[in-house]
Amino acid sequence: MSFLSPYGPSSFTPDDGLDLFFSPELIPDQVKKQLPGDLHIRPLASSDYHRGHLAVLSVLTVVTDPGEDAWVEQFRTMRATSGTYYPIVIVDKASDKVVGVGCVFMERKFLRGLGIVGHIEDIAVDKGQQGKKLGLRIIQVLTHISEQAGCYKTILNCSDANIPFYEKCGFIKKENEMAKYAPDQRPQTPLPGVMTLTPLPSRASSPARL
Ligand SMILES: CC(C)(COP(=O)(O)OP(=O)(O)OC[C@H]1O[C@@H](n2cnc3c(N)ncnc32)[C@H](O)[C@@H]1OP(=O)(O)O)[C@@H](O)C(=O)NCCC(=O)NCCS
Repeated sequence: MSFLSPYGPSSFTPDDGLDLFFSPELIPDQVKKQLPGDLHIRPLASSDYHRGHLAVLSVLTVVTDPGEDAWVEQFRTMRATSGTYYPIVIVDKASDKVVGVGCVFMERKFLRGLGIVGHIEDIAVDKGQQGKKLGLRIIQVLTHISEQAGCYKTILNCSDANIPFYEKCGFIKKENEMAKYAPDQRPQTPLPGVMTLTPLPSRASSPARL
């Protein structure tokens, strides 16, 4: 898929010129106003593969580039699970490049009166933009979305080194994380057939909670 901006190949594209993951109205104005004027925060767009979305994620962990078609297919598959994922990005207006990313997803439970837990995942800020409160703004937006969706808590995993950052964002340390990694020989990138699976009807037809 090619992306043609009416403002030029690398000019800033406003929200109404993009195919966004969810409504930008869910991002609070209060947080937008606190961002430096040369930056913009919005939902992930289907054309953000070209804006360096994966490059920013690579400051967090190993990123395997699946190619644009598979990236867009993943975007659409995740978006079809309406009301589940809320990925956001911060864009540098001068270059129209992504400089910060984050996501919150909703886990629906049978306990706590059919409660919902918000899970924050994949927080990353481009090395050249760290220390400008962009990480804080991303967490503020994701926590707002989580609480607006009715989550009774918002949780995340992080390294010891990042605990002070999340404490500055208002989080407290609770319990421990356990992990069991699958054997190394598993496919690193999902097969095309897996990526095009239709979402389960119960998820696809469930109404958005926001
Ligand atoms: C962790 C990360 C997201 C923080 O983003 P950032 O934009 O650089 O952080 P902010 O400027 O918003 O920091 C907010 C506050 O936390 C503090 N802070 C940030 N990272 C910190 C750290 N590792 N240790 C101590 N304090 C930290 C800042 O000094 C700032 O404090 P202040 O309000 O007193 O000035 C960013 O450094 C990053 O992308 N790191 C690599 C990927 C990663 O580890 N992601 C987190 C996965 S759980």
